[in-house]
Amino acid sequence: MAATVGRICGARLLKNYGLVTPQVLKITVCQLSTSTHGWTRNRKLLLSTLGVVGGGVGALLFALEQSVQASEGEAHPAHQPWSHNGWFQSLDHASIRRGYEVYKQVCKACHSLQYIAFRNLVGVTHSEEAAKAEAAEVMIRDGPDEQGNYFERPGKLSDYFPSPYPNENAARAANNGAYPPDLSLICSGRKGGEDYIFALLTGYMDAPAGVILREGQNYNPYFPGGAISMAQVLFNEAAEYSDGTPATASQLAKDVATFLRWCSEPELDDRRLMTIKVIGMFSMLAAIVYYFKRHKWTTMKSRKLAYKPVSKK
Ligand code: HEC
Repeated sequence: MAATVGRICGARLLKNYGLVTPQVLKITVCQLSTSTHGWTRNRKLLLSTLGVVGGGVGALLFALEQSVQASEGEAHPAHQPWSHNGWFQSLDHASIRRGYEVYKQVCKACHSLQYIAFRNLVGVTHSEEAAKAEAAEVMIRDGPDEQGNYFERPGKLSDYFPSPYPNENAARAANNGAYPPDLSLICSGRKGGEDYIFALLTGYMDAPAGVILREGQNYNPYFPGGAISMAQVLFNEAAEYSDGTPATASQLAKDVATFLRWCSEPELDDRRLMTIKVIGMFSMLAAIVYYFKRHKWTTMKSRKLAYKPVSKK
């Protein structure tokens, strides 16, 4: 590797210390060297210019990134102790189910969830019958039928969650020009993931002095820029839970954030289960391979070579 890099750059990182010729064999002795001894002036100049330019560009990028961040001045969401944090933890399915109820009763009025179908709920939050009943509650636009007309029918398991608005313009018109983003991938799409969503939903406050909000805007320190067009939607008892959990604002936010994490990564549990299996399998295989390698190489490794000097007569 070092030799190849050295050759490409012409830097000769691996130095050739000449030929050592013990009678028959010609061995080139190479040694990794970091000393600049023996570099030509041009090479030193080139490398130092590269170093200075590279460092300068890095510092500039860092400064630019910092300046942009500083101008936004948003608060960082606090890390919450999610029960699904950690490599071997699964999602809390009771919480996903409650989160779905929050989405259905509150967020669905404005946000679509276009990549999640009712069949995805089966075995995660609902039984097949219950998921069918959930699907049948919504009307889906289908068609064209034999006469070429579009029609509405009750949803089926294979249907995706319908959008609250027919298109983006209608969504903007209903929300002061702001577009409520699709929530299917929002948890992976925002820095901070579920921490951010929890902080956003529970972080509304009065705008501090000096912050001017336009009509329809609200102040939320976690939203980049602070002025968000979504009003506070989660209050105590803003939604009802079927399992009797007290529906405080923070409980609603926690559950909907867990639900949105599941929407972003429905395969999360399977992936973690697979990780456990793969780590288990590979450690067993590694042990076998190690033993087998020792077994096969034992004759080579324990071999002893001896030279018998030819006695001069
Ligand atoms: C009355 C309509 C409405 C409801 C109800 C609503 N939202 Fe929003 N939401 C919006 C609008 C509008 C925006 C866009 C805000 C902006 O860009 O300023 C938004 C933006 C968001 C964002 C994106 C913030 C970002 O970083 O871009 C998230 C996350 C979000 N909403 C989550 C939710 C959740 C979860 C619920 C349900 C508990 C919910 N919303 C309910 C209207 C709504």
